[in-house]
Amino acid sequence: MTTITLHPDFRIGSVDRRVFGSFVEHLGRCVYTGVYEPGHATADEHGFRGDVVALTKELGVTLVRYPGGNFVSNYVWEDAVGPVEDRKPFLDLAWRTVEPNLVGTDEFLQYCEREGLEPMMAVNLGTRGVAEAVALLEYCNGEAGTKWADMRIANGREKPYGVKLWCLGNEMDGPWQIGHKDAHEYGKLAAEAGKAMKLTDPSIELVACGSSSMQMDTFGSWERTVLSYTYDIVDHISMHAYYEELDGDRASFLGSGTAMERFVERVVASADAIGAEKRSDKRITISFDEWNVWYLVSRFPGETNLPIQRDAPRIIEDRYSGLDAVVVGDLIVTLLRHADRIAIGCLAQLVNVIAPIMTDPDGAAWRQTTFHPFAAAARLATGEALQVKVDCDTIATEKHGDVPAVTAAATVDPESGALALFVTNRSATEQTVTLRHPGVSARIEGGTAVLADHEGPRETQEHAEAYGPVDALPVEPGDGTITLRLAPESWTAFHGAMEL
Ligand code: AHR
Repeated sequence: MTTITLHPDFRIGSVDRRVFGSFVEHLGRCVYTGVYEPGHATADEHGFRGDVVALTKELGVTLVRYPGGNFVSNYVWEDAVGPVEDRKPFLDLAWRTVEPNLVGTDEFLQYCEREGLEPMMAVNLGTRGVAEAVALLEYCNGEAGTKWADMRIANGREKPYGVKLWCLGNEMDGPWQIGHKDAHEYGKLAAEAGKAMKLTDPSIELVACGSSSMQMDTFGSWERTVLSYTYDIVDHISMHAYYEELDGDRASFLGSGTAMERFVERVVASADAIGAEKRSDKRITISFDEWNVWYLVSRFPGETNLPIQRDAPRIIEDRYSGLDAVVVGDLIVTLLRHADRIAIGCLAQLVNVIAPIMTDPDGAAWRQTTFHPFAAAARLATGEALQVKVDCDTIATEKHGDVPAVTAAATVDPESGALALFVTNRSATEQTVTLRHPGVSARIEGGTAVLADHEGPRETQEHAEAYGPVDALPVEPGDGTITLRLAPESWTAFHGAMEL
């Protein structure tokens, strides 16, 4: 029998709404024919697609990271500001694609401003350094009267953008990264760049690069070394993780949320070890600024023999199944269960590239299966994350050992009492769950679920839309408990209320 126990007095921490972020990289068709396509029937006067904007709003994205990703590590941001007709294309070495520089810093930041999205910018610490990072920050946030701020004003933007969140490079531990560094080299550079950036604008928050995945040989020592240089300067350490079903190992894939949880716990332990050594009261939080399901077998950064491509090639356009959507939901459960330490999350990426939103050039935009769990969680998860006690069976997996058959996260809004409960059933059978809420009244009003058995072909808009969310199985209120039913291999978002 499975039981879930909740009580409003047992809280993890406030949900930072920045955890519902996404990511726009100059990669494949994420920017061109993704968010930006002048001439498209729905494009606004700036060339941004209205249909994509509408879906981004429905998805509930709060923040967008930009411009990469691997792309940022050889990016020259100055080439993509000023009059568009004067901008020259450049060869992006990360994806071996000719970048036309039609969208740059101003276009992106103004798009965020128009659409109410918080921008998260990354600086190039691969081929560039302290001076260029500070110049970009001054260009974005500086007041009139200095070189770079005045360049922004000359380019037509008087008011500083006030960008708060800055990534100090991207995946600098990865040998595929242009300008890859060891932990000491990167730690020193990040500390100096961060110091200079906070002298330029003390109101910003900085993210140091953590490991590109828990599988990196340097994982653990990378975090400790980098933070030994940057602890007092940065606010967050990044985490990146992608999961896929390999060799038909469905159980391990369904257990990905547990692997992600262990990854979080290890990064927190590494950060806190440095804090302890420094006798510091400061707590480094996590920017989980790339996470998703990604069939990496289809393409891995670092392939060097790819032909040079132009005109927004189709790269990493993974098509998702119902099973992928269940795993995405379960990864969100992990993010919410660590609300005390995870400040930022970015579903990588927003459009076309391993994305919840797909587009046809000059055609439609539509939702992939992974759109639905993100949208439900972004809509419902507000207020305080609760400590959720789950008592359930375990499932044996090849990759992660025994994992819980059921995982859950919950939030309650202290103002309204609105309750959200997100539950994954990783098992192949329907589960009956007794929801206990001792000493407080609670109710579940309904829910929406994504199901792994919604497989089907998924290459087109029609197929993707046919496998949308379904109503949760009926809920039975009892005397001091509520009985929930979970479909086999499913993720369900329940909503209701709790007395506070
Ligand atoms: O999101 C796709 C790529 O994955 C990013 O460019 C990089 O940071 C990671 O390896």
